[in-house]
Amino acid sequence: MRAQYILGTDTAAAQRLRVLDEVYHQTTMALLERVGLCKGWRCADIGCGTGRVTVAMAGQVGAASVVGVDEAEAFVDMARQFAAERKSVNAGFVFGNAYAPPLPSAQFDLVYARCLLSHLNEPLQALRAMTALARPGGSVVIEDIDCGGVFAHPEAPALMQHLDLYQRAMRLNGGDPLIGRKLPRLCRKAGLAGVQFQVVSPSEPREPVKHLYPLTLACLKPAIIEAGLATASEVDALVAKLNAMADDPTVTISSCPMVQVWARKS
Ligand SMILES: C[S@@+](CC[C@H](N)C(=O)[O-])C[C@H]1O[C@@H](n2cnc3c(N)ncnc32)[C@H](O)[C@@H]1O
Repeated sequence: MRAQYILGTDTAAAQRLRVLDEVYHQTTMALLERVGLCKGWRCADIGCGTGRVTVAMAGQVGAASVVGVDEAEAFVDMARQFAAERKSVNAGFVFGNAYAPPLPSAQFDLVYARCLLSHLNEPLQALRAMTALARPGGSVVIEDIDCGGVFAHPEAPALMQHLDLYQRAMRLNGGDPLIGRKLPRLCRKAGLAGVQFQVVSPSEPREPVKHLYPLTLACLKPAIIEAGLATASEVDALVAKLNAMADDPTVTISSCPMVQVWARKS
């Protein structure tokens, strides 16, 4: 079975990726700085979506090039448009699969993926393919979610219900919503050296942090209905409750913990 990306590739899905990037942009850039991203680095962003991180990386590497790969043609088109709007001439995008990216082997100083492996049913295979792209001594950097640590106060049953639906839909599709905690071990299994990790959970900017949950559920609606996990009206009602929770300034909600792992190709 090959997992399909279940959050969609329409404009609502693209809007969700914009908000996802608002939540995690700063922690992603801090991670890339930590691994040494600098002028001259050739980089690959696998499962690049609409290209927000790809373009940000391209802004750091001077005249070197950064290439984003995604299996969703709609996202590849949007990424190209985003790069053009940002006048990012050294960010390029290709259509391709994470299991066999259409890129040269052993050429990249940095091979990166954010929120890709949690959607795949063979994450180790994809990680090995990413490792093959890195030059000897190059960096492989992965960020992915771990839904286990999300909290709200006062207790928010709607959020817990959403997380339950989200995790069930992901698993039915072959994905793993708790992949974050498994990433260091997966990286070692892929043969990477010097594996290090940290967990980040941004609380700012507050609006995107809180609204990412209803946006995600709305994008997941077709997959939830298809899997028979809930009806359309049940999902709509839950999205409304999550929006009300997000708009309530007295409710504290954490972002989904993001596990950041970095390692070197021997
Ligand atoms: C949650 S999005 C993350 C996008 C981007 N990395 C970001 O952080 O904004 C996951 C992306 O992985 C892509 N994807 C899923 N499975 C893939 C596969 N097998 N090969 C390539 N891309 C894939 C999806 O099309 C989607 O763009």
